[in-house]
Amino acid sequence: MNLSIWFLLLLLVFGFNDRIYAHQRPRTERISGSAGDVLEDDPVGRLKVYVYELPSKYNKKLLQKDPRCITHMFAAEIFKHRFLLSSPVRTLNPDDADWFYTPIYPTCDLTPTGLPLPFKSPRMMRSAIQLIATNWPYWNRTEGADHFFVVPHDFGACFHYQEEKAIERGILQLLQRATLVQTFGQGNHVCLKEGSIIIPPYAPPQKMQAHQLPPDTPRSIFVYFRGLFYDVNNDPEGGYYARGARAAVWENFKNNPLFDISTEHPTTYYEDMQRAIFCLCPLGWAPWSPRLVEAVVFGCIPVIIADDIVLPFADAIPWEQIGVFVAEEDVPKLDKILTSMPTEVILRKQRLLANPSMKRAMLFPQPAQSGDAFHQILNGLARKLPHDKRIFLKPGEKILNWTAGPAGDLKPW
Ligand SMILES: *[C@@H]1O[C@H](CO)[C@@H](O)[C@H](O)[C@H]1NC(C)=O
Ligand SMILES: *[C@@H]1O[C@H](CO)[C@@H](O)[C@H](O)[C@H]1NC(C)=O
Repeated sequence: MNLSIWFLLLLLVFGFNDRIYAHQRPRTERISGSAGDVLEDDPVGRLKVYVYELPSKYNKKLLQKDPRCITHMFAAEIFKHRFLLSSPVRTLNPDDADWFYTPIYPTCDLTPTGLPLPFKSPRMMRSAIQLIATNWPYWNRTEGADHFFVVPHDFGACFHYQEEKAIERGILQLLQRATLVQTFGQGNHVCLKEGSIIIPPYAPPQKMQAHQLPPDTPRSIFVYFRGLFYDVNNDPEGGYYARGARAAVWENFKNNPLFDISTEHPTTYYEDMQRAIFCLCPLGWAPWSPRLVEAVVFGCIPVIIADDIVLPFADAIPWEQIGVFVAEEDVPKLDKILTSMPTEVILRKQRLLANPSMKRAMLFPQPAQSGDAFHQILNGLARKLPHDKRIFLKPGEKILNWTAGPAGDLKPW
């Protein structure tokens, strides 16, 4: 349907105040209180990070073997390494460090179609930890409690892409005391431990930038979504994939003219998001869907359908104010929930989304920019300082069990 007819139809049906369509550039709004200020924090001077030097087989060689790892949505593990090497928070003196970082790319083992295979990750991780624990005194002081690891895989440091298996494995024993930086963010789940830092997935900033429309582009699509509703191969009934939320969206709204939803991925995908008011984010288990990043970057109000989700940098980004949270069981009421939202509320969310600090926090640009996702990770680490004295073990004290876990994990890497 022609967009201008859409626009008229929407106005007629819902009597929306035309200001919604943002004929002027939406004014941006700062978040009052701590949230906005936290996003703009400068981590430099607030923490020092020591980067271990590892043989290149743990990082660079893997990337050489498969260059797709750097464009993958889990590429944050590589970019974070590069970022830290030249960051002013890096210290070359480990005795000065608040945090220790082990540059390892556990997600850079891809199938021919580009899906990460995590089967070797536990052995690789174990091997790297053994190496740093033997060659430096810092790991044994705390058994990793002042170390952080970037583990952007589906179920983080559980290292399996099937939820059942991931739960059965649990978080790798040797990482139990470390701080995990991960995209997996399901609350009350064995693969998310307290104190983890949840990050957005990597989405290509230049590519998104190239599709940027003028900021006064009218928003004439009410609800937008592109993606699968069913995982036909693994879950034809749709009850498991995204915990049924996507299947419910399709069944309830496939014929609703307010819902521009389809499995077809158009070439105008990024532009369409800039023409939409609401963008559906049926996230299932994890915020690793790039949709959330795209919605924020393109100023489309994210409609988050994922019970108990822990969103990226949730202690700095006021998700409740920017987005709309819809309980999974309320998906059939989605149309009513969204059409009954007061115009002022929508406008306020759009103004908050127009705040450049929100967009920056979602991206891993090259080169890095202040306030971007790299800096938000550092801010998250800085907020955990100073370390509790109790993380330092008494002489001879051991907490981790080096021989725990499946026998296969104990084989050398
Ligand atoms: C740290 O502890 C491990 C395991 O107990 C041991 O093998 C290693 O030699 C220790 N490292 C140092 C630097 O003492
Ligand atoms: C470590 O884990 C292994 C395997 O689960 C177990 O057999 C062993 O008793 C544990 N060691 C300690 C000291 O708890």
